[in-house]
Amino acid sequence: MPGGAECHVWYFPLTLVASEREELWQSLTPDERERANRYKVARPREQFVTARGRLRQILAAYLGVSPAAVELVSEPDGKPILRGVNLPFNVSHSGDLGLIAVADRRVGVDVEQLRDVPNAAGLVERFFGPEEREQFARLPAELQLPGFLRGWTCKEALLKAVGTGIQNVNKCVVDLDPRRAPAVIRFDHAAEIGRWQLGTWSPVVGYVAAVALECDDELRLDSSRETTSPAGSRRAT
Ligand SMILES: CC(C)(COP(=O)(O)OP(=O)(O)OC[C@H]1O[C@@H](n2cnc3c(N)ncnc32)[C@H](O)[C@@H]1OP(=O)(O)O)[C@@H](O)C(=O)NCCC(=O)NCCS
Repeated sequence: MPGGAECHVWYFPLTLVASEREELWQSLTPDERERANRYKVARPREQFVTARGRLRQILAAYLGVSPAAVELVSEPDGKPILRGVNLPFNVSHSGDLGLIAVADRRVGVDVEQLRDVPNAAGLVERFFGPEEREQFARLPAELQLPGFLRGWTCKEALLKAVGTGIQNVNKCVVDLDPRRAPAVIRFDHAAEIGRWQLGTWSPVVGYVAAVALECDDELRLDSSRETTSPAGSRRAT
């Protein structure tokens, strides 16, 4: 179980071999299978089954129960949590990669596949606040895409940690400069009084990720503590 200002971030490919697919499918609830079957296209269906099945495996290992016995419920804004158990976690997926952060306090995670984002400036205009827009405009051209991805992943990780949706995107302001350590500049979502720390890293080549943890201490990524499991790898932060 993660303790203190530590969180474990597990990552795994969203593509499965057939034997794993069946095992993960068997661990899903009827509601989750119904949700999977609503995807008409095979790839997103498989990605949902993998992410949810891996989530069940990982949480089951912390809780000492079987994956099928993990009781997941959704908060009003859609954030999955454990019923009756205080083990905060959060899930993100992009491209072929899934990430699951587990901590002893509120945690949010976001991963994005590296790609060109031709409308980055438009997304900044739409989703970022005035200070962030100004900072984005001042970044050298070659740092605008990394700055956008830094801002996007950090803001999503923060919003996902508190479980709120996009409606509060303007209430969190982060440092977009990828040359500096990630930092929360302001987070004034009405319910927030805690302090938040951010960590950013590349879990595998071609992806960037951010984790937001409710704590005072600076987050330090410690890849020397990486361990593997059937579900992927674990990284302590
Ligand atoms: C879930 C949400 C918070 C993020 O979605 P996303 O970036 O498309 O997807 P991610 O892969 O990072 O996260 C999806 C997972 O987050 C979890 N999740 C769903 N709702 C959540 C919420 N309100 N809070 C936290 N986590 C949530 C779920 O586990 C979900 O995976 P699942 O559907 O397989 O169970 C989405 O509802 C949202 O508001 N997106 C906003 C996107 C945006 O415009 N961001 C601007 C940032 S600057």
